[in-house]
Amino acid sequence: KYEKIWMGSGVGTLLIFLIVLGIGAFYQGTQPPSCMVTLDPTNVQAHEAFKEDNLGLQKLGEKEYTLNVLASAFNYDFGKDEDGNAVRTIRIPAGSKVMFQATTKDVIHGFQLAGTNVNMMLEPGYISTLETTLDNPGTYTLICNEYCGTGHHLMTATVEVY
Ligand code: CUA
Repeated sequence: KYEKIWMGSGVGTLLIFLIVLGIGAFYQGTQPPSCMVTLDPTNVQAHEAFKEDNLGLQKLGEKEYTLNVLASAFNYDFGKDEDGNAVRTIRIPAGSKVMFQATTKDVIHGFQLAGTNVNMMLEPGYISTLETTLDNPGTYTLICNEYCGTGHHLMTATVEVY
């Protein structure tokens, strides 16, 4: 008699386990995380968004931008300005809708715009994206919040919302 009860509870537990697994798989299948776009980690610049000319702030329309960023130890690459110097500061008009698109050339880096809701992890082989509206004027620091090596604490850039 007791054996039957044990059998029953065993099957019951198994069924609950399978249902939970099924629901989990269903939700993951229908709601993939935003960073599921993959690219070749050994040749990230083969991807359109990370070609030299497409890096940095791209204007899509009135107060609508895409910011393409290629991270590597210990730098955020926003492309070059007209003089051929690396862009260190991004200037965006307040109230702009910005789509952040970023990836890394080497190891995992963080991508946190302190004081905003922008906070992503950059993983080799994946494009991380996040869209937000930058409403409040100010000077924001982009920081790496994943330890990535000896220059980790130097890995910063500036975003100015004006
Ligand atoms: Cu890049 Cu820490």
